[in-house]
Amino acid sequence: MVKISIEEMEKARKRLQGRIHKTPVIQCEAINKLAGTNVHFKCEHLQKTGSFKSRGALNAVLGVKEERGDDCQGVLTHSSGNHGQALAWAALQCQMPCCVVVPANAPQLKKDGMSEYKTDIVLCGNTVKDRETTCAEMQKKLGYDVVEPFNNAYMINGHASCAAEIIEQVPEADAVFVAVGGGGLASAICMYIDEKRPDIKVYLVEPEAKQLKSYLNEDKLPEYDTVNTVADGIRVLRVGDLCKPILAKYAAGNIISVTEEEICEALKLIWTRTKQRVEPTAAVPLAGLLKLKDKARCPVVILCGGNVDLSFVP
Ligand SMILES: Cc1ncc(COP(=O)(O)O)c(C=O)c1O
Repeated sequence: MVKISIEEMEKARKRLQGRIHKTPVIQCEAINKLAGTNVHFKCEHLQKTGSFKSRGALNAVLGVKEERGDDCQGVLTHSSGNHGQALAWAALQCQMPCCVVVPANAPQLKKDGMSEYKTDIVLCGNTVKDRETTCAEMQKKLGYDVVEPFNNAYMINGHASCAAEIIEQVPEADAVFVAVGGGGLASAICMYIDEKRPDIKVYLVEPEAKQLKSYLNEDKLPEYDTVNTVADGIRVLRVGDLCKPILAKYAAGNIISVTEEEICEALKLIWTRTKQRVEPTAAVPLAGLLKLKDKARCPVVILCGGNVDLSFVP
């Protein structure tokens, strides 16, 4: 079983080279003025399939292929959107069969995206439990290797390539703002940056209903099982068991909770000022930056996805 480590992150970066985009970093004067600092946007919405997820997903498919050879019959996951699209795309690149278990209430655009990459879609109920149960049933039936959306070492190691690019593209960076759902992206960013550039502070930004601070510090979770937020990429309440100790170690003191209004405000700013059509989740890190009183000199904000459901208007 592969470990989450800097060595594996470097290996993943080599594996991915030439197969994914080195996404651009852009700036916007109007937002700099508003934020009172020199903001850099890392454009992961321009990554293959429209989110950073392709980094981890392709690393997972290539890694499982290397590890298991012909014993791997295909890959399987559960996802309401971006992870499913990314895994379907990655499997198609490697000519590997793929099946995604999708909650019925997933955005149509994301379901359509998965179908385009020729994956088999199995619909399930809308709770996390529904997804996990159906995924376990499909695993028994198909015998495919499960690639969990965030609680998977290949995914986390693959996402670290985003951190490596940030360090190269913005050497003067002193802070990175990242949205947290299951915590795969955030874990990769914190761990890699701590190793390579410990002077850069990584802020985890969450919708306030998630209450990550009490989960990391006191192991306490709210009663509900899904976060009620416009940011549909990060409605998962609990960060993964693999992610929790990493986030607790590197970033428990740097969590920013934002309201729904703050997310919508940040989204409108990105749409109108930068003209980048990102999805609501991608506005969460900017909302965090705008909320922080103690401004970084050169912050990097990760625009994590661009798959906007066309029925959505903020
Ligand atoms: C656009 C977007 N941003 C952020 C996340 C959160 O990623 P993680 O679950 O690794 O925290 C997701 C998860 O699907 C996503 O789709």
